[in-house]
Amino acid sequence: MTGRVAVIGAGPCGLSELRAFQQAKSKGAAIPEIVCYEKQSDWGGLWNYTWRVGTDEHGEPVHCSMYRYLWSNGPKECLEFADYTFDEHFGQPIPSYPPREVLYDYIVGRAKAAGVRPWIQFNTAVRHISYDKASGKFSVTVEHLPDRKMKTEEFDYVVVASGHFSVPNVPSFKGIESFPGRVLHAHDFRSADEFKGKDLLIVGASYSAEDIGLQCHKYGAKSVTMCWRTQPMGFKWPETMEERPLLTKIEGKTVHFKDGSTKDVDAIILCTGYLHHFPFLDEELKLRTHNRMHPPHLYKGIMWLDNPKLMYLGMQDQFYTFSMFDAQAWYARDVILGRIKLPSHAEMAKDDAAWVKREEALKDAFEKIDFQADYVRDLCAVIDYPKFDIDMTVDEFKEWEHDKGDSILGYRNKAFKSPCSGTMAPIHHTPWLEAMDDSMKTFLAVKQVAAE
Ligand SMILES: Cc1cc2nc3c(=O)[nH]c(=O)nc-3n(C[C@H](O)[C@H](O)[C@H](O)COP(=O)(O)OP(=O)(O)OC[C@H]3O[C@@H](n4cnc5c(N)ncnc54)[C@H](O)[C@@H]3O)c2cc1C
Ligand SMILES: NC(=O)c1ccc[n+]([C@@H]2O[C@H](COP(=O)([O-])OP(=O)(O)OC[C@H]3O[C@@H](n4cnc5c(N)ncnc54)[C@H](OP(=O)(O)O)[C@@H]3O)[C@@H](O)[C@H]2O)c1
Repeated sequence: MTGRVAVIGAGPCGLSELRAFQQAKSKGAAIPEIVCYEKQSDWGGLWNYTWRVGTDEHGEPVHCSMYRYLWSNGPKECLEFADYTFDEHFGQPIPSYPPREVLYDYIVGRAKAAGVRPWIQFNTAVRHISYDKASGKFSVTVEHLPDRKMKTEEFDYVVVASGHFSVPNVPSFKGIESFPGRVLHAHDFRSADEFKGKDLLIVGASYSAEDIGLQCHKYGAKSVTMCWRTQPMGFKWPETMEERPLLTKIEGKTVHFKDGSTKDVDAIILCTGYLHHFPFLDEELKLRTHNRMHPPHLYKGIMWLDNPKLMYLGMQDQFYTFSMFDAQAWYARDVILGRIKLPSHAEMAKDDAAWVKREEALKDAFEKIDFQADYVRDLCAVIDYPKFDIDMTVDEFKEWEHDKGDSILGYRNKAFKSPCSGTMAPIHHTPWLEAMDDSMKTFLAVKQVAAE
C-alpha cells in the first residue's frame, strides 16, 4: 500500500496507532508511510513527567499535567494492553495501583518492543493542518523547535492524538486577583510538599480535585477544603478534608461559599478541568466539545464526519484508557488499510447521533462504565485486537467505584485480576497512605520476610 499517514502526538494514543500499524506489518500487511510528530523531546505524552510549568525550553506551553506522587487512580487491570500484558513487561505480578513511573515504563515498554521510535520526529510541533478537496490531501506544516525550521508535507490521512488534558480551563472568581497566597491550576501542580502545613482551597469536584486534595492531605496539608459547582464528590473524607458548595467571592485570605460559610486559606488550586484545543487545525476540521463520553461529530468516536480521512483518538472522557485507545487505533488503521469500509455519511451521522442520545441519558458513573464498555466492545468486534475479558473490566470498574465509596484513603490498597492474563495482582507491600516513596524501584520491591 502506498500513501502517507500523519500521527499528531506520541502519547499513549499516538503510540497505540504506531503499534497498530507495526502489528499489521509484522503479520505481512503492506502499510502506508507513517510519520508521527511529537513536540516534546520524548514519548509518553502526559506520562512524560517534567518539573517545568508554563513554557518549556523552546517557549512552547508545557504539555505535562501530571505531578510528583501521582499514582494510577483506577486499577491497572482496567487499562491493560491485551497484546502486551503487565506480566510480560515486568516479568512478575505487580500490585493494581502503580505510581506514574511504573505506568510510564509499561507504556513506552510496548513501544520500544515494537520498534516504532524511528517513525517519530521529536521536538517537532504541528503548526497547521488544512485539507485540499481537489487533491484529496492534507497539508501539514510543522516546526522543528531546536532550529525553528518550518516545513510542509502532504498526507492522505491525519490522526490527531494530541490529547485533551493539557490546556487548562481557568475560570475567575470575585476577589481572586487580590488573594495574598498562591493561585494555580491543577495543570501547574507538581509537588504536594509545597502545601505542607497550609490551609488549602480546591475548586472542582472531579478526579483532579479528589486526587490533588488527597495528595496534599497525605503530604501534610493542614486542611483541604474542596468546593463544587454541580454536585459534591461525597466521599468519606478524613477529618481535615471537607466539601462545600462553590465559592462566591474572596476577601483577602477569606473565601466565602454559597452556603454563607467562610474559610481562611493560604493557597488555591483550580481543579476545573481542561479544554479540547486544536490551534493547528483549520476551522472546518476542528473538533469542538467539552469533556464528555461521546463528543459528537465523530463516527465510532474516531472519524470526523465531514471528512473521515481525519481521525481523532482518545477525545472521550475516560474510564477506559489504554485498551480503548488501542481499540480506536486498530479501527482507524483498518479503515486506512481498507479492511473496514465506511458507510454513507447519512449512516455514519445516524450511528453517531444514537451514541450521543444514549450518552445524554446516562445517570451515573455505573451507567457511564457500561456505556464505554459497549463502545469498546463495538470497536473490538471488527478488529484483530487480542480478546480480553471486557465483562471482567466492567465488574472491576464497578468494584473500584464501591471501594472508593467505602474508603477514599484505602481504595488503592486493593488488588484485582487481569482480564488479559488471568493473573491476580498481589497486595502492595505498603498501604498507599504510608507509601511516601513512589519510585518504581520501591514499588516493585518485594518485602523481605525474615526467615523463621
Ligand atoms: C493529571 C492526570 C492524571 C491521569 N492519570 C491517569 C491514570 O492514572 N490512568 C489512566 O489510565 N489515565 C490517566 N489520565 C488520562 C490520560 O488522558 C491518559 O492516560 C493518556 O495520557 C491520554 O493519552 P493521549 O495520547 O490521548 O494524550 P497525551 O498523553 O496528552 O499525549 C498527547 C501528545 O501529543 C503531543 N502534542 C500535542 N500537541 C502537539 C502538536 N501541536 N504537535 C506535536 N505534538 C503535539 C503532546 O506533546 C503529547 O506527547 C490522567 C490524566 C491527567 C491529566
Ligand atoms: N491518576 C490520577 O490520580 C489522576 C489525578 C487527576 C486527574 N486524573 C485524570 O485527569 C482527567 C481530568 O480530570 P479533571 O478532574 O481535571 O477534569 P474533569 O473531570 O473534566 O472535571 C472538571 C471539574 O471542574 C469543574 N469546573 C469546571 N469549570 C468550573 C467552574 N467555572 N467553577 C467551578 N467548577 C468548575 C467541573 O465541575 P462540574 O461538575 O460542575 O462541571 C468538574 O468538577 C481525568 O481523566 C482523570 O481521570 C487522574
